[in-house]
Amino acid sequence: MRRVKGSRYPKSVGCALLAGAVLVPAVAGADSQVRATMWAIFDGLRSLLEISATPDGFYDPVNRERILTASRGIQGEGRVLGLHVSSDPGAEVLGGMMSRQALKIGRLFEHGRIAEARSLTHGLTELCIACHTRLASQGDSPVAAQFIASDTVRELPPAERATIQIATRRFDEGLDTLSSVLRSPQLPAERIERLLKRYLLVSIRVASEYDDPITILEHLRGRADLEASLRDAIPAWIRSLRTVRRDGASGQELEVAVALIGDSAPSVVDPDKLIDYIVASGLLHRLPRSEVSGARLARVYYLLGFTEHRVGGPYWLPQVEAFLERAILTDPGSETARRAYDLLAERIYEAFTGPDGIGVPDDVAEWLTRLNGLATGA
Ligand code: HEC
Repeated sequence: MRRVKGSRYPKSVGCALLAGAVLVPAVAGADSQVRATMWAIFDGLRSLLEISATPDGFYDPVNRERILTASRGIQGEGRVLGLHVSSDPGAEVLGGMMSRQALKIGRLFEHGRIAEARSLTHGLTELCIACHTRLASQGDSPVAAQFIASDTVRELPPAERATIQIATRRFDEGLDTLSSVLRSPQLPAERIERLLKRYLLVSIRVASEYDDPITILEHLRGRADLEASLRDAIPAWIRSLRTVRRDGASGQELEVAVALIGDSAPSVVDPDKLIDYIVASGLLHRLPRSEVSGARLARVYYLLGFTEHRVGGPYWLPQVEAFLERAILTDPGSETARRAYDLLAERIYEAFTGPDGIGVPDDVAEWLTRLNGLATGA
């Protein structure tokens, strides 16, 4: 089924790619630069994934230059990307992180730490996904079509294939792959939650699709071995999917988001509200930043941090912290800034003092003290 509605891609882009022609920006406008950057980033990732697909690929001297060129390419383009998206602290920090991660891959590789370099390559795809799944898509990109159809990707286990499909903006294919994984009786119960959350995020936020997830959730409910926490939450998720407002709430994104998640931040996570958090975060991501300022903008940043925190992406992605920091800087001394600081501090202390905790490093502690001063207006 085609879920991602409409397409702004002219047919010729796909044809040019199939013919192996040199790419020229096909879509003019404000985002053409971002997309040219993306082609280069995609090219780098494709090289790294192709080489890492065989166990010896990263060790074969024949591939050395290609690996170094690819990681340098992603490193440079990730930095450029940060410059285009500075109104969006989440994207800015993800672009910066992608750049640093690529730098690390190149350095580890040069120092002969090949296995580590190879495993970081796969971490890169989480950064692509975190950025691409924030907004609704108007059509799958043709850029990665050939790569997705190649043996490198087709031969991957389905869950990994879905990761690459989503990372390269082949959302329809990614959703199809994930939904067949989730329907498979062979899927071990302990792997359901992570894959299901990703499936829900892409369905709702990217594809604006609410009915297919209901079918999947109904199916999963029938599994006798489902983890208790999921069994308890699924009925509420189905109810939310049935009743949630689906029209995009143009002009009222903030109000509708607040109505969904409540205005005060409950300190206890409410798993029943996952769908509401996903829908609300989608609305807030979509709200054009140029249309809000001052206290209202700070609230948007705070709620973006809060909802992303609740949706719970990979813990090492720093976008939640970036949104909360920006909320404090945008409206220092306000109630919003204080709430943002409280959540930020909670996350930082948890990250550094958890079971493997090493304590909060001095520079992070200093940064927190400075933000606390701004938040409280001291
Ligand atoms: C900081 C955010 C961000 C990160 C990180 C990111 N992208 Fe993108 N990407 C974008 C944006 C924005 C677009 C344009 C989306 C649109 O056209 O609506 C895009 C578009 C694309 C496209 C489609 C280009 C086209 O012309 O159709 C591909 C392919 C792509 N990205 C691949 C990747 C890969 C692979 C990675 C990870 C290695 C990645 N991106 C990381 C923001 C990001």
